[in-house]
Amino acid sequence: MLDKKYIKEQFPILNQKIHKRDLIYFDNGATSQTPNVVVDSISGYYSTINSNVHRGIHTLSQKATVAMEDAREVVKKHLNAKSEKEIIFTKGTTDGINIIAHAMRFILKKGDEVIISQLEHHSNIVPWQMACEITGATLKYIPINKKGELIMGEFDKLLSDKTIIVSVNHVSNALGTINPVSEIIEKAHNVGALVFIDGAQSIPHMKVDVQDLDADFYAFSGHKVYGPTGVGILYGKEEILNSLKPYQGGGEMIKEVTLERTIYADVPFRFEAGTPNIEGNIALASAINFINKIGVDNISKHEDELLIYATEKLTQLGGIDFYGTSKHKSGVISFNLKGAHSSDVGAILDKLGIAVRTGQHCTQPIMDYFGISGTVRISFAIYNTKEEIDTFIKAMERVKMMLM
Ligand code: ALA
Repeated sequence: MLDKKYIKEQFPILNQKIHKRDLIYFDNGATSQTPNVVVDSISGYYSTINSNVHRGIHTLSQKATVAMEDAREVVKKHLNAKSEKEIIFTKGTTDGINIIAHAMRFILKKGDEVIISQLEHHSNIVPWQMACEITGATLKYIPINKKGELIMGEFDKLLSDKTIIVSVNHVSNALGTINPVSEIIEKAHNVGALVFIDGAQSIPHMKVDVQDLDADFYAFSGHKVYGPTGVGILYGKEEILNSLKPYQGGGEMIKEVTLERTIYADVPFRFEAGTPNIEGNIALASAINFINKIGVDNISKHEDELLIYATEKLTQLGGIDFYGTSKHKSGVISFNLKGAHSSDVGAILDKLGIAVRTGQHCTQPIMDYFGISGTVRISFAIYNTKEEIDTFIKAMERVKMMLM
């Protein structure tokens, strides 16, 4: 059981009125809120050890370096990576995908194939389109069914010795579907392909063990896991990462530079050109410590209960079309009120103090598949409650009266 009172106290931002009503925050798929420990970690950094990392002999620089490398160790343990060298600090999931998709531009060639899926966020489509456009490789995708699940039989047909890399999400941001990534990784490895997993929507909600999954690459963002914005993690197997070219050059990512040529540093620094978001990286580790203190399994269980409860209540309300009805779902509900535009529903809910996301959720191919312009999406986090869902359902009754 989660201690609801304790958890609410950790998030002062939630104790405010929006349009004179208690805020209910159901837009966690876009950005989760940051607990006191994360905010304190950021302000503590600036009030005690702010300086540059890996570059200074002076005490502050050494303290900042130790704090950031300790943060890397926290992430390594959380993902169960083999080595801290496999943990690269990035700007977020999008950055992680771009780092690898860009590196693939030096490897892919005409005749090669890259497989993504119809369920991807634009950030896991566009970088691969760019890589294929430049190299002449072909981009293929795994189609989905009406429940919003990947059609695995079609994946089997797409795989061949031409497949160089497969890149899919662990959990769909738009529909909440949990994809069978272990099976995808095993099948892709059987044809010799690499696998990239976009974990932006999984890491906040479930335990992930990269060695157990045998993922070649796994990426996530700070701002969806109770951490700061503008930071994220790219995990990659050390040997593979060391064989790839970086997409940014600059300080700290080198072993040796002459005016004629550069020898790159080994990972992780090879992919960390420039001064990093030091306080953000340290605060990300605070966020991970925070969820581990509560227990990721407890978080999953709580959010699953909310998912079941809210789905039942919305079904009873009537007049709702659901998108994404897989049995394997994370705490995301995407829906439309029959005959109403998603942004009208979202705007009224905001006036009633409830934050939801509306529109395409950066997943236009999914919306095209369902023949809709967008959905209303509610997505849960550790601090949400059944009482909030009851208030949301009452608000939806009002929305229904106004729009139907
Ligand atoms: N990718 C984020 C979302 O799903 C922004 O809302």
